[in-house]
Amino acid sequence: MQVLVYSDYDEMSAAAARMIASKIGELPKPVLGLATGSTPIGMYAELVRLHNEEGLDFSNVTTFNLDEYCGLDAEDPRSYHWFMKEHLFSHVNLDPEKAHVPAGNSADPDGECARYERLIKEAGGIDLQVLGIGMNGHIGFNEPGSDPNSRTRVVRLAEQTIEVNRAKGGLNALPGYAISMGIGTIMEARQILLLANGAGKAEIIRRALTGPVTPDVPASLLQTHPNVVCMLDKPAASLLDLS
Ligand code: GLP
Repeated sequence: MQVLVYSDYDEMSAAAARMIASKIGELPKPVLGLATGSTPIGMYAELVRLHNEEGLDFSNVTTFNLDEYCGLDAEDPRSYHWFMKEHLFSHVNLDPEKAHVPAGNSADPDGECARYERLIKEAGGIDLQVLGIGMNGHIGFNEPGSDPNSRTRVVRLAEQTIEVNRAKGGLNALPGYAISMGIGTIMEARQILLLANGAGKAEIIRRALTGPVTPDVPASLLQTHPNVVCMLDKPAASLLDLS
């Protein structure tokens, strides 16, 4: 795993956006895996800037988001559909038909999960998957104890996850279930970009990058992936021995 440390959040976000922009420039039909949460917001803002000011072209790009809350429709401001529209989709020339987020409000959630897996396969797999990390080491919504071979499925969220995400969003309530790509799905991406910022993430980053590889810390499974770039700001890297 390549670990890159930046002086602050803005530097980290700009570097992450540059990496995505290079991938878009390199490949005829880039397939990106996208994440939500507070961490990638700066990266999306920089991608929008690159689109507006430097002509970054999303017309050939296909995207797959990691996850969505169950029971929320796309117009619910708590949904990840809404988040993606707000931060990226409505600001760039990405074809709406090629911007995929699991349908959390599907009447047939298991069917929706199977459909999502099929769509990823049909697109030729994910070239670059962006990941944040939860306070308990979750990636996507794969909570501690998730099967390393898991595929897109309905998951029950940890109480801590619901509370952290609720408080961060200033929300009254969040669903207890979500549809999430599985760890097996994520690990099939050809390249992974893991992002974390802030001192609050330092301990879980230390465990994920240098601790034992265990499903108890889902992000530690990334140590077994052949092509991971981890971008951190200084506070998130503060418990790593990088000498
Ligand atoms: C949510 C998302 C994860 C994300 C995590 C961290 O739980 N499902 O994909 O990585 O939040 O969020 P933040 O970036 O706000 O710390």
